[in-house]
Amino acid sequence: MMILLESTHSNNQSAQISFAPLVCAQDYPEIYNPKYDFLGQSYASMYPNLHKYPATMLPQIGLELFRDFKAEKSMLLDPYCGSGSSFMSGIEYGIKEFIGFDLNPLALMITKAKLTFIDSQMLLEEKRNMLNQILIQKFKKQEMVDYKLNKNPLDNITNLDFWIEKNAQDDLKIIFSCIKSISNITIQNLLMLAFSETLRESSYTRNNEFKLFRMKNHEQYKPNVVDIFSKNLESLVHDYLTFYQPKIQKISFNVTNSSFRAGKHSFDTILTSPPYGDSRTTVAYGQFSTFINEWLGYGEARKLDSKLMGGSKATNFYNKGFIKDYIFEIAKADKKRALEVSSFYFDLETSIKSMLDSINRKGKVFFIIGNRKVKNIILPTDRFIAEVFCNHGFKHLQTIKRKISNKSMPLQNSPSNRSGAISSTMNEEYIVVCEKYGAC
Ligand SMILES: C[S@@+](CC[C@H](N)C(=O)[O-])C[C@H]1O[C@@H](n2cnc3c(N)ncnc32)[C@H](O)[C@@H]1O
Repeated sequence: MMILLESTHSNNQSAQISFAPLVCAQDYPEIYNPKYDFLGQSYASMYPNLHKYPATMLPQIGLELFRDFKAEKSMLLDPYCGSGSSFMSGIEYGIKEFIGFDLNPLALMITKAKLTFIDSQMLLEEKRNMLNQILIQKFKKQEMVDYKLNKNPLDNITNLDFWIEKNAQDDLKIIFSCIKSISNITIQNLLMLAFSETLRESSYTRNNEFKLFRMKNHEQYKPNVVDIFSKNLESLVHDYLTFYQPKIQKISFNVTNSSFRAGKHSFDTILTSPPYGDSRTTVAYGQFSTFINEWLGYGEARKLDSKLMGGSKATNFYNKGFIKDYIFEIAKADKKRALEVSSFYFDLETSIKSMLDSINRKGKVFFIIGNRKVKNIILPTDRFIAEVFCNHGFKHLQTIKRKISNKSMPLQNSPSNRSGAISSTMNEEYIVVCEKYGAC
């Protein structure tokens, strides 16, 4: 077993990796399979995004995995389902029942919208009426506006005026109240995605970032909120009716806003893509979703990232299996970082263990993961996942390495957390495939 360290020399082979031999543990080799690269493809190559979400998975990967490993067509679990891409793989493969968990309310809103069947005529009619209502409300005098809301949602937004221009605030409130007055909850949920995109786009947030940063010259930004919403709404309804609705007529699903909880179901297949590290230093799912989560009254919106995997502080190093050597290596340079990294592995291990009993014998798990770099040390999270499963009654079938292209996540990070110290990272992903032992 080796620990991968990025070379510090700056010669013409500066991109090369040097190897520091360390303790050898059971190995879970990675095999590169170009078939899984899907070069140039993104989530949207197969399905348009109903709403942006960071680090979405390619449904094409899941579909190929199901075929290659002859997955059962029974109920599919995704314990970190995000915007529900794994379920799209399942639908293409012929699976009809889906169970998902995610701590981010926005993620579940997107997943529900993708999986809920709505009659076309009803949707188009509600959309038309709602747009008319918005125009009527907008041209009424302010004091006559009938918001039909119990609570002013603008009060939920922290630092409201810092983030959203005054006129935009009024228009957003009108649009929201018109969506809320739709009696059909599934239509409300779908159309709320257009509102959520509009909220983000019309705020002062820099739109090409997952984290919340205010744009430069924000004083000059005077968004036409109703126009932005109308465009988002048209493309949302078109994409839903064209790409999703025809495929979801005969499916059922249940998604829960929590970490995985064992219930009455057991599974032959898990397909998932867990976070690659804590939200603070990898992908800030919580920050990306802050405005809509706050707007909808989710009181913990600003704390979400600290509740996600690796978000809490560990008080001791993770010191099991072979990942401990990597953590000790990081600790030599920075104890605090080593504790942060430990926290992620503690959480990931606890999370995996919570689902073991819910997997049937011969059940297959597919975990898609990136191996992040901290302090110039590449952390083999794929091997960590394989090891946790193999320590608990599973065998490792394969780890497939694939090249990433088009994934909506930062390909550059600051491995030392020093500004300016940027190195490219995670150009590859790993698909860990394990199977629960069949014998009693
Ligand atoms: C890589 S994303 C999943 C993306 C998803 N496959 C998609 O295509 O949209 C990881 C997800 O894990 C969620 N998450 C992080 N920690 C979690 C936990 N402890 N329990 C459940 N979900 C968690 C995040 O909110 C995020 O949506």
